[in-house]
Amino acid sequence: MTTEQTIDTLFLEERRYPPSAEFAAQANATSAIYEEDFESFWARNASERVSWFEPFSTLYEWEPPYTKWFLGGKLNVSYNCVDRHVEHGRGAKVAFHWEGEPDGDLRAITYEDLQHEVVAFANTLKELGVEKGTPVAIYMGMVPELPIAMLACTRLGAPHTVVFGGFSADSLSDRMNDMGCEVLVTQDEAWRRGTTVPLKRIADDAMSDAPGVKTCIVVRRTGNDVPMAEGRDHWYHDVRGSDDPASCPPEPMDAEDLLFLMYTSGTTAKPKGIAHTTGGYLVGAAATHYYVFDLKPDADVYWCAADVGWITGHSYIVYGPLCNGATSVMYEGTPDYPDKDRWWSIIERYGVTILYTAPTAIRSHMKWGPEHAAKHDLTSLRLLGSVGEPINPEAWVWYHENIGGERCPIVDTWWQTETGMILITPLPGVTTTKPGSATQPFPGVDAAVFSESGDEVGPGGGGYLVLKRPWPAMLRGIFGDDARYRETYWSKYDGVYFAGDGARVDEDGDFWLLGRVDDVMNVSGHRISTIEVESALVDHPEVAEAAVAARNDATTGQAIVAFVTLKGGADGSVAKLEELRNHVAQKIGPIAKPANIVFTPELPKTRSGKIMRRLLRDVAENRPLGDTTTLADPTVVEEIRDRGQAEAGKED
Ligand code: WTA
Repeated sequence: MTTEQTIDTLFLEERRYPPSAEFAAQANATSAIYEEDFESFWARNASERVSWFEPFSTLYEWEPPYTKWFLGGKLNVSYNCVDRHVEHGRGAKVAFHWEGEPDGDLRAITYEDLQHEVVAFANTLKELGVEKGTPVAIYMGMVPELPIAMLACTRLGAPHTVVFGGFSADSLSDRMNDMGCEVLVTQDEAWRRGTTVPLKRIADDAMSDAPGVKTCIVVRRTGNDVPMAEGRDHWYHDVRGSDDPASCPPEPMDAEDLLFLMYTSGTTAKPKGIAHTTGGYLVGAAATHYYVFDLKPDADVYWCAADVGWITGHSYIVYGPLCNGATSVMYEGTPDYPDKDRWWSIIERYGVTILYTAPTAIRSHMKWGPEHAAKHDLTSLRLLGSVGEPINPEAWVWYHENIGGERCPIVDTWWQTETGMILITPLPGVTTTKPGSATQPFPGVDAAVFSESGDEVGPGGGGYLVLKRPWPAMLRGIFGDDARYRETYWSKYDGVYFAGDGARVDEDGDFWLLGRVDDVMNVSGHRISTIEVESALVDHPEVAEAAVAARNDATTGQAIVAFVTLKGGADGSVAKLEELRNHVAQKIGPIAKPANIVFTPELPKTRSGKIMRRLLRDVAENRPLGDTTTLADPTVVEEIRDRGQAEAGKED
């Protein structure tokens, strides 16, 4: 992390964007909500945003490091996201304008349609043995059946884990085994940039390593032939259940019942199953979605361009927007297919008013040039959002000018898989924004920057981002690993949540995020741990040792550089480099492929044998080496640097 450089450039950032009077006059948020007492804020949101079958008796309980919210309350997520909107006469309103990647593949799904689809899917799951508490894995692309399957699980009270469709068979089987999944929902193939991704075949490989999975439901998408195992695999269209809502009433769930696990990278090779529960998660996702995106359910067309397979898609494509009765866009494919103006044509077609995306996507569009957006009428847009990594001021201003027509507020939202909901963000209509700053903690959220020793750092100083008080959508732990939960988030400071991000607070109390401080890399907004990639490399039979570091990348934020020692001191070839990159793709998924690999006979180590990743980061970044005095053999790193420079240009 180039903390010093980042701080230098941030210090120069003096542009200010106060809210316009017109926006402020109609905004859902007013400055008064910052004044509201924390407990009454969350109690009010729980009753305004969510319908309860039975009211909660206690707002929250906090026994560090575990919290519970809305104790005694009973609710159902699919009821909140679907049925109640139909009951309130809004069944004809569109929930999703779904757009497939192939030309002309469009579907408008109303809330009434969604209710029938969710009920039919829930009945199917039920007939195949799923009941309250049965863990279900979902491995799909961006098709409507993905949110439908998630909602069907919540209707029955079956916790789900959605595995991003770009992950490998190993990643899928690891997650299914960890959660103990008995059922997998997938699709024949997915469309991606004009070609197909063989999801069912990958799922077959995964299931061969996950013997607990006894049932697989396959949704037809491309229609191509895929192998089906007799007795285990079922085409969804063959086993689709009744869609009569009366045949499958939503199960009343306890506020603290497990809703889903979302696996995320940490500093070890094994992904962590982050646990989110029913009541707190739904209230947190819905309340933030309402205020941060200023949602007007009857007027807005909202588009979060993330993938449902990540937490952003869970909270801000599926649960938050549907709970609020929003009309959303859901798009299956890539932004440059068939052309680089695909996104802007979607915005024009549906009259999208709110767009939420990631800095890596904004930087890609910047690279392709503003002429693609300029071909389309984007005047429907009134609000823009960003998430996933720090947004560089240049990208922020480009987004503001070329997409937002200089009239749309930008909400730069900081949060994590673990936090479940946005925690640091401007409120449109209230906050004066600054390019590169996520500005203020959301109402009721108590964030601070701490020094190494746990003192609060004053204005201007850098340190570690912490949260001093629980919030409703906070993780309830790491599935099956209490020790790791305590160690990862709660061991650095007593009773205070350690986020793993560096941050700085300025004179106005605005937060500037400075990137990860641990061994987690952020590639295109996706968290990948260095150790996960190292393990994948060492898994290759010819690799003796590997170390991985990230360097800054103009488009993807960070790019992965791997340093590899082959067995027997063999020299690496270009073919070997490709083979290793593909090996990582196969073990983890294409997103984890190193951008380049430096072959080296030796890795830089301390005398006690620890790999000095700090020096490898210096090499990866091509900057002067830091302190090398503890190195066992100082010549090693010089040699690696020479090799690294020779390798430059071999990335794709
Ligand atoms: C980073 C994604 C700066 C951060 C919702 C965090 C950000 C990690 C921002 C979580 C932002 C996310 N500014 N950094 N607005 N949003 N991050 O779990 O390092 O995939 O810890 O959740 O992304 O990534 P995750």
